[in-house]
Amino acid sequence: MSGTSADGIDGVIVEFRHGRLVALVGHLHYKYPDALRRRLIEVSIEQPAITLGEFSSLDARIGDTFADATLALIAAFNVDPATIDAIGSHGQTMFHDGARGLTLQMGDPNRIAAATGIATISDFRRLDLALGGQGAPLVPAFHQALFSDAEEDRCALNLGGIANITALPADGQRQVIGFDTGPANALMDEWALRCTGQPFDDNGAFAAGGSPDEQLVTALLSDPYFSRPAPKSTGRDYFRLEWAVRRYPAMLTLRPQDVQASLAQLTVCSIAESIRSALPGTARLIVCGGGARNQELLRLLAAALPGVVVETSARHGLAPEFIEATAFAWLAMRRMTGQTGNLPSVTGARRAAVLGSVLVPPAPA
Ligand SMILES: Nc1ncnc2c1ncn2[C@@H]1O[C@H](COP(=O)(O)OP(=O)(O)O)[C@@H](O)[C@H]1O
Ligand SMILES: [Mg+2]
Repeated sequence: MSGTSADGIDGVIVEFRHGRLVALVGHLHYKYPDALRRRLIEVSIEQPAITLGEFSSLDARIGDTFADATLALIAAFNVDPATIDAIGSHGQTMFHDGARGLTLQMGDPNRIAAATGIATISDFRRLDLALGGQGAPLVPAFHQALFSDAEEDRCALNLGGIANITALPADGQRQVIGFDTGPANALMDEWALRCTGQPFDDNGAFAAGGSPDEQLVTALLSDPYFSRPAPKSTGRDYFRLEWAVRRYPAMLTLRPQDVQASLAQLTVCSIAESIRSALPGTARLIVCGGGARNQELLRLLAAALPGVVVETSARHGLAPEFIEATAFAWLAMRRMTGQTGNLPSVTGARRAAVLGSVLVPPAPA
């Protein structure tokens, strides 16, 4: 899995028994080569015109990097490839507009299958789109399997480049809903890079040194995306710094740390509001994704949600940075066992479907 932050590829080896996660066997974070990362971020955020030749080359190079990450993971934990039933590869999202039924994940899975000799499942999103859904988020079904509770209304929150929530009502009557709430780290990462040269605001220290500018936060929150009803999904090509500057040009005259604090506030307010409307009785918020490492963000979330226990997924047995990758291993398991992967109540698809295309490579010579 590589998310919209494109900070690198997260790989996990996990074991399922009777459809349930029983063990995390190994994990690896594999960095993109610098030049490839720079170009794929440029292409996915700025959406410049590129030639079909470069497009194909990006697809192949991303696929090769995913294959290298997989081989490194298998080698690091000394696992016999013959014991691995399948690889689930999400690929790198280069474009996503759920409302228009469009999504593009790159990273040719044929290269992963050929390099590893292991059945490889990819293209998890487009059948859901073809069934009228948003194709996203897909993690909620896994959140439900992992975090739902019979006694307590809970929400799971993924803090990647974009934030998405899954509302998990205690009783089986009310439907699970989930959607992208807007930016999580995308804008903060861009602003941190521009002002500090660092790819993200480590532990939120830069944001903590400023105070939010109310007018800026209000101007950003007035974007119609935030009040649009679910199902909805979005991408980094929408929530980019240019979007914020367009909505409030004076932000460039504010103190940089106050802008960062405002962007953190935007993330927190949009999430808190989404949780209140999706599941007002939420007693516990389980935070996943790289943003769960940001203590300042967790503190602000807890402050915005009085009465809600805010904790990371580590309290439930799986560290926040492994959740998304494990979700795509879970989806691969669902594909191999003929079980559905999407939740129509989340994506808006006409029906639940078995997701993903399977490539079965020839046995190694
Ligand atoms: N120590 C940290 N402090 C603050 N933010 C962090 C920290 N570690 C990770 N992050 C944030 O998490 C992001 C990566 O999270 P990830 O879940 O991989 O997102 P994505 O799925 O979009 O790739 C980074 O871009 C950064 O914003
Ligand atoms: Mg990532």
